Amino acid sequence: MSLLITNIGELTTNDPELGILRDAAMVVGERVEWVGPAAAAPAADERLDVRGAAVLPGFVDSHSHLVFAGDRAPEFAARMAGQPYTGGGIRTTVAATREATDDQLRANVARLVGEALRQGTTTIEIKSGYGLSTLDEARSVRIAAEFTDEVTFLGAHVKPADSPDGYVDLVTGPMLDACAKYAGWVDVFCERGAFDVAESRRVLKAGIAAGLKPRIHANQLTMGGGVQLAVELDCASADHCTHLSDADVDALAHSNTIATLLPGAEFSTHAPYPDARRLLAAGVTVALASDCNPGSSYTSSMPFCIALAVRDMGMTPTEAVWAATAGGARALRRPDLGHLGIGASADLIVLDAPSHLHLAYRPGVPLTSSVVRKGTLQSLCVEEGHLLNPRASHQSESPHKGVLS
Ligand code: NIG
Ligand code: FE
Repeated sequence: MSLLITNIGELTTNDPELGILRDAAMVVGERVEWVGPAAAAPAADERLDVRGAAVLPGFVDSHSHLVFAGDRAPEFAARMAGQPYTGGGIRTTVAATREATDDQLRANVARLVGEALRQGTTTIEIKSGYGLSTLDEARSVRIAAEFTDEVTFLGAHVKPADSPDGYVDLVTGPMLDACAKYAGWVDVFCERGAFDVAESRRVLKAGIAAGLKPRIHANQLTMGGGVQLAVELDCASADHCTHLSDADVDALAHSNTIATLLPGAEFSTHAPYPDARRLLAAGVTVALASDCNPGSSYTSSMPFCIALAVRDMGMTPTEAVWAATAGGARALRRPDLGHLGIGASADLIVLDAPSHLHLAYRPGVPLTSSVVRKGTLQSLCVEEGHLLNPRASHQSESPHKGVLS
């Protein structure tokens, strides 16, 4: 089945050859098959006329913690009244998550994945990290794998209050053994009060030995050694990067490690935003992601993150949109995502706006009017549970209902 998307007012391809096209069209199956001027578009099985709207790649949200129960609204309110964020609230969510049934956890992930999809997210990475026991971490990664191909084992989120001693042995031993088959990535919260650099190195190296690829929570609350460890171990991404030394910026600039910035966390913890301009000026590749979690960043909205990055982190709107799409794809080492060159996965969004600039220009406005994933127009109904895992994907009976012309 092929789909012609035509009358595209502005097509942001993130493809170095194609760039940004006006009055464009594209033909997609599961992958992008043709891109060019609307006037020269070939025929296809179905046709979607977007009437001058902007089209761009779907957002690639490379950092989220969606497997949890409960919320921490009072903790948020206390922070807005001046309390500092320490990460200590993670244990509150751990207690609620351990209490929840699999179906309750599953329903919460479905709700948040659907919420993200309606805002244009077509790929989302999901971490464990609120179980902190072998059983609860294993069911967290198992449930995450029902929704996405990009699952991260974050048993090393914090040490559990009830059994901190020997926890790194557990994470790098029996817990890793139980979780590795459901995950593609291993992560650690390298931070004062969580895991120090030596412990973080152990966690990531054990994950690598078990066949997982490393990524890391680095330099969120303090200028620790997380970024240097990320570069040492060739992590795909160092996430947060809020407090960086010149040596950290230089190390990132000479590495394959992406700096993933998570402005929702700075927003929700009343912290200074990371300096994206400094990173870009040094030649570092920057990604933006939501960090969606109930403690430090309870937003699933990539457009919100784009708006913050433009307003408070020194990014241009075009740079921020690239970071939320192609940047996220690089942070997940997925060359098939984040762009609309020929052969890319046909994951794209149509905006109720003439340009991608409106994502930052019109903050807080729901601009995502249509979402196409692997060539299929997605239902954006609130009631639908969404799965972004093609192996498990179920499509609505009439996915094009009322939208195709
Ligand atoms: O990425 N920094 C560590 N982990 C999460 C916070 C989780 C929480 O506060 O529940 C983060 O911000
Ligand atoms: Fe996080």
